[in-house]
Amino acid sequence: MTHTDTRRYLPPEDLVRNAHVSGRAAYDALVAEAEADPQGYWGRLAREFVSWKKPFTRVLDDSEAPFFKWFDDGTLNASYNCLDRNIERGLGRKTAIIFEADDGRVTRVTYAELLERVCRTANALKSLGVAKGDRVVIYLPMSIEGVVAMQACARIGAIHSVVFGGFSAQALRDRIADTGAVLVMTADQQVRGGKVLPLKTIVDEALALGGCERVRHVLVARRTGAPVPFQAPRDIWAPALVDAQPATCEPEWVEAEHPLFLLYTSGSTGKPKGVQHATGGYLLHAALTCQWTFDLKPEDVFWCTADIGWVTGHTYIAYGPLALGATQVVFEGVPTYPDAGRFWKMIEDHLVTVFYTAPTAIRSLIKAAEATPSVHPRRYDLSSLRILGSVGEPINPAAWTWYHEQVGGGRCPIVDTFWQTETGGHMITPLPGVTELVPGSCTLPFPGISAAVVDETGQELPWGQGGILVVKKPWPSMIRTIWGDPGRFKSSYFPEDFKGRYYLAGDGAVRDARTGYFTITGRIDDVLNVSGHRMGTMEIESALVACTELVAEAAVVGRADETTGEAICAFVVLKRPRPTGEEARKIAAELREWVAREIGPIAKPKDIRFGDNLPKTRSGKIMRRLLRSVAQGEAITQDTSTLENPAILAQLAERS
Ligand code: PRX
Repeated sequence: MTHTDTRRYLPPEDLVRNAHVSGRAAYDALVAEAEADPQGYWGRLAREFVSWKKPFTRVLDDSEAPFFKWFDDGTLNASYNCLDRNIERGLGRKTAIIFEADDGRVTRVTYAELLERVCRTANALKSLGVAKGDRVVIYLPMSIEGVVAMQACARIGAIHSVVFGGFSAQALRDRIADTGAVLVMTADQQVRGGKVLPLKTIVDEALALGGCERVRHVLVARRTGAPVPFQAPRDIWAPALVDAQPATCEPEWVEAEHPLFLLYTSGSTGKPKGVQHATGGYLLHAALTCQWTFDLKPEDVFWCTADIGWVTGHTYIAYGPLALGATQVVFEGVPTYPDAGRFWKMIEDHLVTVFYTAPTAIRSLIKAAEATPSVHPRRYDLSSLRILGSVGEPINPAAWTWYHEQVGGGRCPIVDTFWQTETGGHMITPLPGVTELVPGSCTLPFPGISAAVVDETGQELPWGQGGILVVKKPWPSMIRTIWGDPGRFKSSYFPEDFKGRYYLAGDGAVRDARTGYFTITGRIDDVLNVSGHRMGTMEIESALVACTELVAEAAVVGRADETTGEAICAFVVLKRPRPTGEEARKIAAELREWVAREIGPIAKPKDIRFGDNLPKTRSGKIMRRLLRSVAQGEAITQDTSTLENPAILAQLAERS
């Protein structure tokens, strides 16, 4: 494959001149340094970017590969690195967070104020008996409290696991149970796009489902002040307890490998996996990538629009920008409320210089701007912007070009950052002062990341040939294990087919024949990417068949969707005769609601088709590739001779 877009997007000269990584020669030198001596390279950066209580003497311990350990005889504290250290450097009065609420109200906190809030919250957790190594589940809205909660856990060495506010009581229960959490931090309610979500009630429901007996307390922040059910002594109001605490809290110095957090993500089985990250290596990459990929400078105003419930909100809100002492915007709401000009207005109001969002948001804002000229970005003053970023899914060239021209005024480089929950931070990405851009390509590996495209046997493929994306060498912010399931960690990410040496990303990729630039071609496993949210097909199937009254069997596949990237398409066999017409529509609506309750609204299938059966081979295996064609509305060109019941395909092609 060779890129067809022949326009050249060179990095702007003034940006190159002042960039942290300036020019291609500087990039090549870093790559060469990392190649020649990986441990020397990562060790140097770990000393530069992270403050250690006890300096490490060993960079990498690979004696138990793939359970790699980084900087493991060093000790540090992530919250000290993100807060105290900045204050010691004279940044106490600098704004750390500009928070904009759903209704537009703005609150600012300085680094000194943030430290004080983190310390009080950390002391509150300690007063409730939370200790180093305990798990704390955080189910909070996008808020200063959300960031404070994460930092407070880090301060006392508790391991946080943030659950996205859009997940249901059932999904929340599963995560609380799997982590064995002793405490849940939540709020009375969440407000997004003018809509209220009863977080505290959902926590109550989750705990009532059982399996969460280790939870001793629920710490409840106030967002709306609405009355909520309250069970003393289990439930505790956060403001009263937190405000009564001392304003300082000595950090708990932890070993570099001490888990900083667990974050659940979907894989190719029914059960989400708790990705475990280690304090030292993760913090290094969070800070380093923030500095190099976003070229963050002291005067920048950074805005990452992700939710803290996803990894992007961890690395590029809660840790990376704070580790660099940056000023950032944190937003409670959604891009389309009160209208689809919200992002552009906020960039204008807060003089945002570096803006990081997802292709799905861009695509929906393009549609809105085309329909309603008053929310078009050209109606706003976006001249403060200097760098744009994209994350979470492939950005199609048309959306890239619009983002570049209409939002960035043609002058801002776009960093299309490829990475995953498991990788902790950017893996393949342009650097704004280095890379000539090609729309739709995440370009070249971050210095030190040895990404490659291989075949099924692990053999590296020549440029131009599509294959499997792997990382050939360990890196500091890599996943350490799957919580409670090291066997699954090994088989998912370091399978024997690749001799157990290479990290398997789960994506396909191809390198441009001339430039070697990477383009991600999508997941090669049963994971879908819907609006940048990762969803396992098996997870949705399990949710559907859990509706035992109605559903006999279900198969879920993805199909291309113009706005959401991929859409969820479910094929369902009911325990009653196949419904048609109005009845089919009614049952489909019921099943959608069912899935929303089991997992969350993000997992609702867009399309539900009913059949008397599913297409299976004679040995009973569901033929998913056929279902993919049916979902896509394509003519079936595959060989169907092994199919037990070919007539079923026509039935499944009918929309309900
Ligand atoms: O398929 C890739 C896609 O998102 C997956 C990772 O999802 P998650 O762990 O939820 O993390 C999302 C935020 C980092 C990847 O396996 N993906 C992520 N970024 C890109 C992407 N696909 C193409 N281009 C990207 N820039």
